[in-house]
Amino acid sequence: MIKTATQDRLIARIERLKKERNAIILAHNYQVGEIQDVADFLGDSLELSRKAALTDAEVIVFCGVHFMAETAAILCPDQTVLLPDVAAGCGMSEMISAEEVRTLKASHPDAVVVCYVNSSAAVKAESDICCTSSNAANVVQSIPKDREVIFIPDQYLGDYVTRKTGRKLILFNGYCPTHFRIMTADLDAAKTSHPDALVMAHPECTPAVSGMADQVLSTSGICTEATKTEKREVIVATEVGILHRLKKENPEKDFIPACTWCDCAHMKVNNLEKLLWSLESLQYPITVEPSIANRAKQAIDRMLEIGS
Ligand code: 13P
Ligand code: SF4
Repeated sequence: MIKTATQDRLIARIERLKKERNAIILAHNYQVGEIQDVADFLGDSLELSRKAALTDAEVIVFCGVHFMAETAAILCPDQTVLLPDVAAGCGMSEMISAEEVRTLKASHPDAVVVCYVNSSAAVKAESDICCTSSNAANVVQSIPKDREVIFIPDQYLGDYVTRKTGRKLILFNGYCPTHFRIMTADLDAAKTSHPDALVMAHPECTPAVSGMADQVLSTSGICTEATKTEKREVIVATEVGILHRLKKENPEKDFIPACTWCDCAHMKVNNLEKLLWSLESLQYPITVEPSIANRAKQAIDRMLEIGS
């Protein structure tokens, strides 16, 4: 991507402030290209949590959505975690409340609660163990077979885990409103136009869509496989922000979005100006009330111990 003089100036100021503040910029694979390019580390939710847990930077600027910055704040209580725009929420994480988790637990008192990280700290605090799209199956498999498992909030990731592990899960009815936009007809049309393409989908897609894919992977899993494959064409059923990284890392390959309007408005609120203001004014700090953070941290730590 060609940078404008304005972007160059913004980037220079971001780099200078980053050093002055001893800051690190973490960015999710769905961020706009200009943010991806300036980030110190780009990754999926699990990689970003691990990076946050290990960094000794004093300031972590999290270019992603609120639940990701909140997870970093829980893992790094002594560091400053910033979200450049507090409007960066997540449609899925807002679908479930701590109260609803308590109600589910009351009807299945012996069940283990597995919580997708796309959830609030209060919901994580009610859960036994977290998971991300890249380790959900491993997390569920780590639970003894004779235990019931409640899987929240993403019913489609839960369905994918059941298909992969054979474990029956008690599901909540949450889903990602962005991935929900990808229709089987869209993917069918892309496959018909590109019959030799490798098809990869994110597990937040509906089961009908992910069932049509050759591989179902996290965002970074999709990036890794895109580089490994011998295929020259790859159809991608996930949020379109990932195309920037895919094209940059594999300029010789063609990436075809299964749906061009699979675009997460929350992921797209960040830009270079907001990143600069964030570093200038240390805005917006994300903090979690200690009684909730301590309980949520146990669920996150259990996940990090399992690996991907
Ligand atoms: P990944 O962990 O695969 O990056 O997914 C995060 C997300 O929000 C997908 O919608
Ligand atoms: Fe949330 Fe879906 Fe956006 Fe991911 S793509 S942040 S799950 S709304």
